[in-house]
Amino acid sequence: QRCVVAVDGPSGSGKSTVSRRLAVALGARYLDTGAMYRAVTWAVLRDGIDPADADAVTKVADSVLLSVGTDPEAPHISVDGTPVDGPIRGSEVTAAVSPVAAVPAVRAKLVAQQREIIVAAGRIVVEGRDIGTVVAPDADLKVYLTASEAERGRRRSAETATDLAATVADLARRDKFDSSRKADPLRQADDAVVLDSTDMGIDEVVAYLTTLVDG
Ligand code: CDP
Repeated sequence: QRCVVAVDGPSGSGKSTVSRRLAVALGARYLDTGAMYRAVTWAVLRDGIDPADADAVTKVADSVLLSVGTDPEAPHISVDGTPVDGPIRGSEVTAAVSPVAAVPAVRAKLVAQQREIIVAAGRIVVEGRDIGTVVAPDADLKVYLTASEAERGRRRSAETATDLAATVADLARRDKFDSSRKADPLRQADDAVVLDSTDMGIDEVVAYLTTLVDG
């Protein structure tokens, strides 16, 4: 039956791994909204646009066609027919995504597409920064997943094989930007279950969230 789970939180909190595994456990679809902001950013860089030029970025967002797969075992995203799953995780996109995601017209466009995907799926785990507050305020379960900055840095550094100090600096920079921007900042929904996963394993987090949905 219909069930929407919103998972929000900062970078490196384990959102993606937890959300995918939770979706598999629940027999649900999965949507990574961060991948959509990254895909628009990829198109901005492809077109040689300055990520800080909000008007030019808006034009790119209005003209690209994003197709987003929702299989939790094989997430997939393409821009104008080009698969971009690899490139959107690269350092160029990561460095440019926050200003692109801060443009209100970009958010309006992507939030509308996200809501369509959620309605079409019916049963879905959605991860991002504004899911419980903006995209799906009526979600059946809202989770705010966090972890200490040091632990988030360690996880992301291991994942991307990037230097720990550089990774921690990048996470801190993006968290600050994402939390302080005017349009839909990263924040906890009032009715979110807050989970600090610093000392919890993935299995433990997924098992706990599964019981919250299944009761
Ligand atoms: O995985 P990681 O935490 O590094 O980032 P992500 O979830 O792929 O999101 C990349 C960026 O997209 C974030 O730093 C935010 O600037 C933006 N974002 C957003 O504004 N709203 C969302 N719902 C998801 C991502």
